[in-house]
Amino acid sequence: MEKLILETNKINKYFHDPVTNQVLKEVSFSMKQREFVSVVGKSGCGKSTLLYILSTMDTEYEGDLILDGVSMQGKSDEELSRVRNEKIGFVFQFHYLLPEFSVLQNVMMPGLKLAKHSAQEVESNAIDRLKSLGIDHLAAKRASQISGGEKQRVAIARALINNPLIIMGDEPTGNLDHKNSDIVFDIFHQLAEETGQSLLIVTHDHDFASRTDRIIEMDDGRIVNH
Ligand SMILES: Nc1ncnc2c1ncn2[C@@H]1O[C@H](COP(=O)(O)OP(=O)(O)O)[C@@H](O)[C@H]1O
Ligand SMILES: [Mg+2]
Repeated sequence: MEKLILETNKINKYFHDPVTNQVLKEVSFSMKQREFVSVVGKSGCGKSTLLYILSTMDTEYEGDLILDGVSMQGKSDEELSRVRNEKIGFVFQFHYLLPEFSVLQNVMMPGLKLAKHSAQEVESNAIDRLKSLGIDHLAAKRASQISGGEKQRVAIARALINNPLIIMGDEPTGNLDHKNSDIVFDIFHQLAEETGQSLLIVTHDHDFASRTDRIIEMDDGRIVNH
């Protein structure tokens, strides 16, 4: 039996501005190690809000989130930040690389922040990641000087630097052409297969979603099918 990496129990989320609006309704699901899951649903149905909660960045919600067997209820900001750095990697539609820093420095950053390994080890891990994604030749380039598809691969390398249990993506291929979307899909697929990492990827791309292990469909704040 593969272990559960992530579980949610009846998550409710409200925004109060300008009026109270419930944007997540009784969201319960779980993910196993090695699972590649996509989340689909119309714009505004709550996908990004859900990812913020699952990634521990938003703590204003009802219900329980359990990551790697541990409930996130009552955790301090420091504890949550540690969980985030250690167990979760993120890839967003807009890469958020620091443009003035080199590709290598960008990839190393979360590793230096976690401070679990020496800077030398982090650097050598970062180079390994770049190699496995086929972009080690870009290491010394500034992040502002590479293409969109390359940036997204750098963002993936950065998400992987701390060897997370789960990689979460909010429309990571939303800004890419078909060829580069395919490259990103193949990288994700390979991660699940080879390193047993779990992937939870929000996507608008039904072709991408149909190739994942499982599709979670959301409608108006609820999971309607998974
Ligand atoms: N900070 C906020 N304040 C108030 N309402 C918000 C806020 N962020 C998102 N919403 C609302 O919550 C709903 C879900 O948004 P979101 O999670 O971004 O949807 P999706 O990612 O599926 O497009 C939308 O109705 C949106 O307008
Ligand atoms: Mg969104």
